[in-house]
Amino acid sequence: MFLDIEDILKGDQVGEEVSIRGWIHRTRSSGSIVFAVLRDPTGIVQVTVKKGNVADDKFQEAKNALVESSVAITGTVHEDDRAPGGYEIRASDVKIYDYAEAYPITKDQSEEWLRENRHLWIRSQRMTAIMKIRSTMTGAIHEFFRELEYHEFTPPILQPNQCEGGSTLFEVKYYDSKTYLSQTWQLYAEAMIFSLGKVYDMSPTFRAEKSKTSRHLTEFWMAEMEAAWLTYLDVIEIAKDEVKYIIMRILEENEKELEFLEVDIENLRTMVEKEWPTITYTEGLQMLKEKDGMDVEWGKDLRTIEEVAIMKHFDTPVAVIQYPKEAMAFYKPVEEDADAPGPVAKCFDMLATDGTEIVGGSERDTDLKALIESLEKEDEDIANYDWYLDLRKYGSVVHSGYGLGVERVLAWICGLDNIKDAIAFPRTMNRFKP
Ligand code: 4AD
Ligand code: MG
Repeated sequence: MFLDIEDILKGDQVGEEVSIRGWIHRTRSSGSIVFAVLRDPTGIVQVTVKKGNVADDKFQEAKNALVESSVAITGTVHEDDRAPGGYEIRASDVKIYDYAEAYPITKDQSEEWLRENRHLWIRSQRMTAIMKIRSTMTGAIHEFFRELEYHEFTPPILQPNQCEGGSTLFEVKYYDSKTYLSQTWQLYAEAMIFSLGKVYDMSPTFRAEKSKTSRHLTEFWMAEMEAAWLTYLDVIEIAKDEVKYIIMRILEENEKELEFLEVDIENLRTMVEKEWPTITYTEGLQMLKEKDGMDVEWGKDLRTIEEVAIMKHFDTPVAVIQYPKEAMAFYKPVEEDADAPGPVAKCFDMLATDGTEIVGGSERDTDLKALIESLEKEDEDIANYDWYLDLRKYGSVVHSGYGLGVERVLAWICGLDNIKDAIAFPRTMNRFKP
């Protein structure tokens, strides 16, 4: 029976003979002893193979095995302060499953090389930690919505319409016709609320982003929700609770990984205890003017530098509501009750403490005439939206929803410089391999 390395590091195997299997993480030898560090999905542990303690041919095999060779080791566990994790296994038997060739990934390699060799770099401790946290996060999203009795609804990925602007659509040849990769599940979720009431999902989402930034992927995962009878102000509170829940579950499951990534764990702990504010776009502009001396023309969508500047004044995420209607997607209705210099929409973005937009959502316009006008303004062919406009003809009700960027939230929680590390195989403007 093979033990997990994590179990050995708990310390209750000292003096026992154990077997583990995994991959060689580091290795060096001097004469009659091989010092190796072995890796499995649960951790790393030091192994020493001494000539005389194992058969001569086994010793030679251990000596010949390069980094990333797959191996099994049997040996006795000893305490050793100098070893990573505090324990060492002194081998009595060694089995090599596969001798690795010289591993192309060594210390201090360029970002570009690591991306080129992503299929191998994914084995690194750093990527392993991030991917474990990601798994907790996606599990937490399902837990959160199921606890609130939402139904999971998965949308078509091939869609005939845009929803978030035609310029970022990926076109797909569809026999003799064409279709697009999903930019959002939203229009379909709006169809589902009439039967299921409250729905959520998490699916691949595609945008042909035209700029290279540290926050944009061309393929990412969006976790969305949509619910009948709720206003945008109602769903903002759900979004705050969802992000807090994600953080709480990660704190419960992944302390080790957070420590490895040098995340300020205490800061996350206090953040979930706090109230997360809601401010208006117009208040945001006032803050920029008064506190930062930045003059932003009312009516323009916020740019990254402005979002970052606003968030310097907060120590939790913030929901920014009521952006100018003019700058918003066609489905966002006007908020008549707002105190603002021009028409604003019933919408919100949630900004993280580093200024990243992690969630975007809104109420959905139920006024058929207004929807048609907005679509025409965007030069859309109304005929393509006939099915969507039907939803306003048969028992339309107030409804709202939002989308949470899985990689955006993960990158923020883990303190990653670049969103590319929040997904195993990133797709960006200039890379779709490996
Ligand atoms: O703000 P967005 O564009 O909103 C929508 O798509 C709505 N239809 C969602 C809804 O109401 N159901 O996108 C939502 C979130 C953003 O806040 C961001 O976190 C993430 O999706 N996102 C991206 N993440 C990575 N790469 C990109 N290119 C992204 N574009 C948006
Ligand atoms: Mg947005």
